[in-house]
Amino acid sequence: MTDENIPDFTASLAEANRKRITPPSHRRRFLKLLLGSGVVGLGAWGYMRFEADWLEVHRETLPKAQFPVRRSFRILHLSDFHISEKVPFALVEEAIELGLAEKPDVCFITGDFITSKLSDIEFDRYREVLSKLSEVVPTFACLGNHDGGKWAGSTYGYPTSEKVEAMLKETKIALLQNRRQVIYVKGQPLALVGLGDIWAQRCFPDKCLSKLGSNRSPEEPPVIVLSHNPDSKTFIADHDWQLMLCGHTHGGQCKVPFVDYTPFAPVKDHSIVEGLHNWKGRLIYVTRGVGNLHGLRFNCRPQVSILEAKAS
Ligand SMILES: [Fe+2]
Repeated sequence: MTDENIPDFTASLAEANRKRITPPSHRRRFLKLLLGSGVVGLGAWGYMRFEADWLEVHRETLPKAQFPVRRSFRILHLSDFHISEKVPFALVEEAIELGLAEKPDVCFITGDFITSKLSDIEFDRYREVLSKLSEVVPTFACLGNHDGGKWAGSTYGYPTSEKVEAMLKETKIALLQNRRQVIYVKGQPLALVGLGDIWAQRCFPDKCLSKLGSNRSPEEPPVIVLSHNPDSKTFIADHDWQLMLCGHTHGGQCKVPFVDYTPFAPVKDHSIVEGLHNWKGRLIYVTRGVGNLHGLRFNCRPQVSILEAKAS
């Protein structure tokens, strides 16, 4: 074999190496993948922003066995407005409009009116918004962990709840803080109890609830408890009540599809994060609430809840 017949392996190896270092097909694939994940990420973020404002009206009928009443009536249950830079007044206004369109007989709000501090101008605007509700339907409330107190003061909120309390007073929303009040809804007497929040360390059930086994007469009105955090049920396990309404969880805010896994729900008991539950013979209803933290929700739309009590 002469020199001219020997293939130039050195040259072809160099060419192969050059191709390996900068193979255009790999580079194109990588750029496509990067672009694809960017588009998917942006799409997911956009959807989660959209879902955070996508209100849903949810209706439940309270079982007569656990909640016997003589007159039928309809409760509007709202919670966790969280007015902040992430939650506009328009969302709360829309929730109020949707709720009032259901013609409720009474409205209960279970706390977290704010996320952190608001300016005086914002509180003025908030009064206008809430008045649209309280001027139409009798409205009662309890406070949440964000509304002021020990927990809020240690994060980014008010050390006391006096700002929110003043706003509620001026909008004629009756605040029940460890207080019991008998109200009449379409002629049905109800013993309404509002508990202070457990994270604020202001939950004192002995002040407003009787203990179980104290020979309840059938004539006594059913007891409804407003309590921000459903974990408070363990504080009132030995007390006499029939229905507890809660918020706080935002339904988990971002929920893993199909398995209902709620890793972000700020509660100890993840079996009661949203919806109606029979707990030791008593009813607990947890609404997903209207607002949110951080402006995002996934598989967990904000909720306006309607609870129907049917006469026996
Ligand atoms: Fe909340």
